[in-house]
Amino acid sequence: MTQERHLLDVVAHRGASEDAPEHTLAAYRKAIEDGADALECDVRLTADGHLVCVHDRRVNRTSNGRGAVSTLELADLAALDFGSWKAAAGEPEAPDRDTDPDPARVSGLAADRESTSVLTLERLLELVADSGRRVELAIETKHPTRWAGQVEERLLALLDRFGLAEPPPDEPSPVRVMSFSARSLHRVRAAAPALPTVYLMQFINPRYRDGRLPQGVGIAGPSIRIVRNNPDYVTRLRRAGNAVHVWTVNEPEDVELCVRLGVDAIITNRPKAVLTQLGRK
Ligand code: G3P
Ligand code: CA
Repeated sequence: MTQERHLLDVVAHRGASEDAPEHTLAAYRKAIEDGADALECDVRLTADGHLVCVHDRRVNRTSNGRGAVSTLELADLAALDFGSWKAAAGEPEAPDRDTDPDPARVSGLAADRESTSVLTLERLLELVADSGRRVELAIETKHPTRWAGQVEERLLALLDRFGLAEPPPDEPSPVRVMSFSARSLHRVRAAAPALPTVYLMQFINPRYRDGRLPQGVGIAGPSIRIVRNNPDYVTRLRRAGNAVHVWTVNEPEDVELCVRLGVDAIITNRPKAVLTQLGRK
């Protein structure tokens, strides 16, 4: 599977999450359709050891359920609706309950059930494998300290099953692992040294002020706020030999800034708009 490489990759943050409920199949299908180069997802472990794509510690914001992902089993999560909160926030039209259901609509909703239910990382890997083109994955380990290595262990076992844990040395890896935790990245590197890792930053850690990153990490993931306030930091990161992937870049002026600074990837909720701004659509 080949694909033209671009100077600046566009990464769909939680899928095309401006248009569809984040971390659902619908959001990732839309991102692939929009032409995103890569998909970003957050992973957490359920109580029974499955990796699911959920950002928050609890399911309260993005589903009709309550509770921490870590205390729920996959079957509990599968019974929840991870799509309607977005409709309630004013996105797609809500069903009209005073009229007879339109059979086409009802079957559409049933078909749509999968696209709004909890997404396992395994299902996302299948979607990417079946997409028919190269789509990279940027997987972020969430709350890796709570599980003392289990998130990384399960993640690498799953990547291994899909033949993604050991990318060939002469090609860019289709998967990278991201984390705010240097320890989590260290665990990944120890077990899968060929997988690229991204050190995410919400602020500039004084330890890494000179542009170097934790041992063995080759990609920096600063927030757009860091980049806006300290554009020189991007230069330092690049001079130290690192690639730079910036999140979450949704405003046209921020896209422009990233282009000017020569960053390597933009992580955005609006892949279509960014691709259009970059003249790729
Ligand atoms: O892609 C990195 C970015 O997603 C980190 O922040 O909170 O959206 O996971 P958060
Ligand atoms: Ca994330």
